[in-house]
Amino acid sequence: MQTILVTGGAGFIGSNFIYYMLGTHDDVRIVNLDALTYAGNLENLRGVELDPRYTFVRGDVRDKAAVDAVFDAYGVDTVVHFAAESHVDRSITNPEIFLSTNILGTGVLLESAKRHWNLRPDDKYCREYRAGVRYLQVSTDEVYGALGKTGMFTEATPLSPNSPYSASKTSADLLVRAYGETYGLPVNITRCSNNYGPYQFPEKLIPLMIRNCLLGKPLPVYGDGMQVRDWLHVRDHCAAIDTVLRKGRVGDVYNVGGNNEKANIEIVRLVLAATGRDESLIRHVQDRPGHDRRYAIDNTKITTELGWAPAYTFERGMSETVQWYLDNTAWVERVVSGEYQNYYDTMYGNV
Ligand code: NAD
Ligand code: DAU
Repeated sequence: MQTILVTGGAGFIGSNFIYYMLGTHDDVRIVNLDALTYAGNLENLRGVELDPRYTFVRGDVRDKAAVDAVFDAYGVDTVVHFAAESHVDRSITNPEIFLSTNILGTGVLLESAKRHWNLRPDDKYCREYRAGVRYLQVSTDEVYGALGKTGMFTEATPLSPNSPYSASKTSADLLVRAYGETYGLPVNITRCSNNYGPYQFPEKLIPLMIRNCLLGKPLPVYGDGMQVRDWLHVRDHCAAIDTVLRKGRVGDVYNVGGNNEKANIEIVRLVLAATGRDESLIRHVQDRPGHDRRYAIDNTKITTELGWAPAYTFERGMSETVQWYLDNTAWVERVVSGEYQNYYDTMYGNV
């Protein structure tokens, strides 16, 4: 039985990943370590909380004692590190927490993994590890910076982050690389494009636009709305991470994209059409400072070497996603009001 420490499993991608793994494999155990920040919502995991293969631990990845205790108690042999401050706009107004969570948190996890998995942890020359262990860092295409009208990010593209968020993610990636190079820790990094799907916090473009359409509120489009993102369905992202865990070459970076480049304004128009609203709701507002103009992922490495490919067409993914938010307006409103935080107290008392 593989025991996977999933950090940030109460967030958007982490919760989808837990469903994916428990639904796809019989022989995995998941320990979800999450601090339950504003973005973490245990309600997302209602469908697995009675599964004996699933355990939730409330804790902060920056807390060395808490992380060590999870390794000790559960015999973790795989780490998938999602926990992060993830919203670019928040990083522009309050960068400090991004440095702390995204960089220091990654450092704590790497050190704990090394000490628990290395066969002689007090010998700095020892590069031997328990069989089958793996540390996977969930990173982002934003570490590569911005593209012009043409070109795509490959794994060889130089790192050139532009926001405090992406700079913190880049720093974390460099730490992961350093633990691989210096200590021989078996690591991988995945760098994916913009995810969409169920359980995304409604501060991000797609759920925010859907909610505003349903409420008849204005749709804030930054600048001219011609910035391009490469949209990846969250379930395809989860499948890609699973593929890298099983087949990825130790030490390698894998880019993951959906082959779906869309300008923001196209996304907004799609949401308007899907919710029966018209363009009078669109408001062009002041642009995000340092706004990256275009992202696009070259998937060649993961598709040719590991055999992963996105299964969702954008049309199917968007139609299911809009429907999910229409069916789950109560979830959205609880998240927006912060009310979901009460759920934790009701479910778990003072755990
Ligand atoms: P999210 O903001 O929805 O969730 C983050 C989760 O991490 C929350 O459950 C939160 O409670 C938890 N967390 C935050 N700080 C913590 C801490 N100190 N200790 C423990 N838990 C903590 O994020 P997401 O969109 O699911 O993104 C997950 C990961 O994927 C992040 O590392 C992000 O950088 C990366 N990523 C996201 C996208 C995307 O489109 N959403 C794309 C590329 C990469
Ligand atoms: O590319 C991967 C990244 O995608 C992840 O690393 C980040 O964690 C994730 O948040 C996402 O970052 P973006 O900044 O691309 O996502 P966001 O949903 O915030 O914005 C998408 C685009 O839409 C971006 O160009 C900004 C624009 N936008 C966003 C919001 C919230 C608007 O025009 N109006 C808005 O109100």
